[in-house]
Amino acid sequence: MNKEFNTIVVIGSQWGDEGKGKIIDIISQNADAVVRFNGGNNAGHTVIVKDKTFKFRLLPSGIVSEKVINIIATGVIVNLPALVEEIEELEKNGIKIKNLYISDRSPLVLPYHPLLDKFFEEKREKSKIGTTARGIGPAYSDYIARDSLRIGDLLDKEYFIERITQIYDFKSKILSEESLGYKIKEIYNSQIEAIEKLSKKGVIITDTSKLINDLIDSGKKVLFEAAQGTLLDIYYGTYPYVTSSFTIAGGVCVGAGIGPQKIKKIIGVIKGYTSRVGEGPFPSEIHDSIAEYIREKGQEYGTVTRRPRRVGWLDLVALRYAKRINNFTSIAITKLDVLSGLEKLKVVVGYRYKGKLIDEFPSSLNVLKDCEPIFEEIPGWKENLLGILDISRLPQNTIKYLEMIEKELDTKIEIIGTGPERNDIIIVKDPWEL
Ligand code: IMP
Repeated sequence: MNKEFNTIVVIGSQWGDEGKGKIIDIISQNADAVVRFNGGNNAGHTVIVKDKTFKFRLLPSGIVSEKVINIIATGVIVNLPALVEEIEELEKNGIKIKNLYISDRSPLVLPYHPLLDKFFEEKREKSKIGTTARGIGPAYSDYIARDSLRIGDLLDKEYFIERITQIYDFKSKILSEESLGYKIKEIYNSQIEAIEKLSKKGVIITDTSKLINDLIDSGKKVLFEAAQGTLLDIYYGTYPYVTSSFTIAGGVCVGAGIGPQKIKKIIGVIKGYTSRVGEGPFPSEIHDSIAEYIREKGQEYGTVTRRPRRVGWLDLVALRYAKRINNFTSIAITKLDVLSGLEKLKVVVGYRYKGKLIDEFPSSLNVLKDCEPIFEEIPGWKENLLGILDISRLPQNTIKYLEMIEKELDTKIEIIGTGPERNDIIIVKDPWEL
């Protein structure tokens, strides 16, 4: 018989930037541990507490809460100097890092990976992916090709020298020293220096799968924080315009080293509209002045790269797909306040491809790029939602919008974001009520 586990997974259901940082921050108030399980410093999770804005790239969003154990699990690809920088930035803001554990199995982003990322993007010319240029693709590729290093390798300096020499010799046969951009000694020093700084700050490198399983087995509340979104998943996203990790709920098992039955609850985060950074098809994209209105009001600019995000209406075809891939058990809806003031809202209810109706999200990008969205128009609301703490006080049309989403996805909404700050939130049901 299964024990009851206190675990929640928070997943992005669109192309990332759904506002997961804020939802995780809220849920982590009552969590014992927060675990990042995928992606790297390509992610940008914004948490606003009082007058301070924190932007997390590699650190779990629970880090602002002192009592929480923060874990960077195996599935996260780690740029160690970038992590040190992120921690030092937080320290400048008066946040001292406590209880941070990193998997000894996590792959490294080495200094040449961001260079290769930029170099490959340049060479792709018309087929650019629009990456964040943080080296994520090249670093995961090297790891899968078995030409990389794991954090644990740094703990034994002799072994590290042997491995880095082997890898560098191999890489130099394929790439010129110039395109690698760094000499072996520089790579070695950058990693050793970073790991020593982390150790001085009390960061613990360990078998995080053991730690996470022990926490879950002892009944602790463990929150798993996804980076990016379902449609950026390496398998289930809009390939090749995706990131290189598993962004979906299934990624938790691989990334954190837990069995599927240890996942109790999966919350899908849906932004009240859609956005996308980088290239790739986007059927519900808005091309008129409404996009500008939403972009400005919702501050839709990349956290990592500051690129303006493309903006679109809510796409129910894509969301039904995300529900299926992740089996969401509930929904958190964010940035509803951004839609206030729009007279009419549109939602995509289906696609038309070569005259035929499609209601499943297509796997072929060639099909998706030619899908025409079928829109349904619904009335918007004028009222400002800031300060509303009770769902029954929302404008009638906002409630109708929410009910439509619940019905389409056959999933209940548990949390509603009504503004950027921590307190701009309606908790319909306590997420830890499992
Ligand atoms: P990469 O992850 O840097 O390789 O970028 C691949 C694609 O994923 C690009 O379209 C990026 O804009 C997108 N991407 C990566 N991380 C994020 C994120 O945190 N939010 C939104 N898009 C992202």
